[in-house]
Amino acid sequence: MSLKLITPAHHYQPSFQGYIQELGEEERYPFVLDLDATDFEAYLIRLQEIEQGTNLPTGHMPSSTYWLMEDDELIGVSNLRHGLNDTIRHLGGHIGLSIRPSRRGQGLSKILLQQTIDKASAMGIESLHIHCYRHNTASARMIMACGGVLESEVILEQESESKIVQRYLCAVSSTRQ
Ligand SMILES: CC(C)(COP(=O)(O)OP(=O)(O)OC[C@H]1O[C@@H](n2cnc3c(N)ncnc32)[C@H](O)[C@@H]1OP(=O)(O)O)[C@@H](O)C(=O)NCCC(=O)NCCS
Repeated sequence: MSLKLITPAHHYQPSFQGYIQELGEEERYPFVLDLDATDFEAYLIRLQEIEQGTNLPTGHMPSSTYWLMEDDELIGVSNLRHGLNDTIRHLGGHIGLSIRPSRRGQGLSKILLQQTIDKASAMGIESLHIHCYRHNTASARMIMACGGVLESEVILEQESESKIVQRYLCAVSSTRQ
């Protein structure tokens, strides 16, 4: 299996569309999968703007989006915030990601998260905050497998239900030159 982490690219649009179709109605992670990609060129430009911190919605931080590819197939999507503000430090954290539904349960999230952590390391980020719902066992196990240590839990009140969010810290050794 040959996997590589890339910056989103025009060439893989068909696989991206297949990925979105597979997600169906499930909640989308990371947030960049919620953006309108009908005009794919415009979508790629928007991702670049988000990376450069241009025209960000209030409260957002600049972030980079990565695609985990196996040949021409998009396997997973991650988003790495370059920094945190108080709101995102409380809930959100540095990294959001997902794996293509048909490829889950094969250990691929750990590869995607580790490669995204390596990007953070290259940016000089020394301590990563990674959050997930407590009921999301696969996500929690993925984070721990990549060195995350549970730091705290907070309750998120959402409409009529409340959910527990686990907040993990992951020490990163900087590889920035
Ligand atoms: C969470 C998610 C990324 C996991 O991806 P995945 O590729 O299926 O996970 P992996 O196969 O790498 O497994 C990671 C760990 O979770 C465990 N796991 C996988 N699927 C599981 C499941 N359905 N239930 C419980 N544990 C599970 C694995 O055994 C592994 O743990 P281990 O290393 O201790 O053995 C994937 O389910 C997903 O994309 N979910 C939707 C988006 C999301 O929830 N993202 C996380 C929040 S940002």
